[in-house]
Amino acid sequence: MAPLAAARPATGQSAASATTPTLYSEEQANRGETVFAEACARCHGADLQGISGPPLSGPIFRQSAQFSKLTVSQLFEFVSRQMPYDTPGSLNRRQYLDVMAFILGKNGFPAGRSSLTEEKLATLKLMLFPAAAATATGGGKQ
Ligand code: HEC
Repeated sequence: MAPLAAARPATGQSAASATTPTLYSEEQANRGETVFAEACARCHGADLQGISGPPLSGPIFRQSAQFSKLTVSQLFEFVSRQMPYDTPGSLNRRQYLDVMAFILGKNGFPAGRSSLTEEKLATLKLMLFPAAAATATGGGKQ
């Protein structure tokens, strides 16, 4: 006799949101996926696995990011100034933010309601990349 509990959707919001702050929206990450496919995938791979450019997700990328104590805002700075490798700075700011949202999503950062913005990035100078959640489940820690 508990129809309400049974009917509750599996996506009910709870705990998770309190741990890792949400930085971008799903919609934004989807736009970023298109930007990535057009501007980044030929060197970094459609699955960010790396081709002529290094991988942008997975254990190798996580380890190098952790080793250098990379922050989310540093990563954005790097990408927006140095990438695409052959035409740096050729995307507009919105495209860089969108592609950054996509990369965050692929590295274990959960999506939230609002988009990643320059203002948000400015407050993230100390937030380490990748997300704690991704490293906890990523194995091979240390
Ligand atoms: C023409 C090939 C090419 C394209 C296109 C390209 N990259 Fe790269 N990318 C590279 C290479 C090569 C490196 C390594 C550069 C270095 O270490 O100085 C790199 C490095 C990076 C890194 C640092 C990775 C690390 O482990 O240090 C990031 C992040 C990155 N690229 C993101 C992007 C994004 C996002 C795009 C699309 C907007 C993009 N790249 C487009 C070739 C490319």
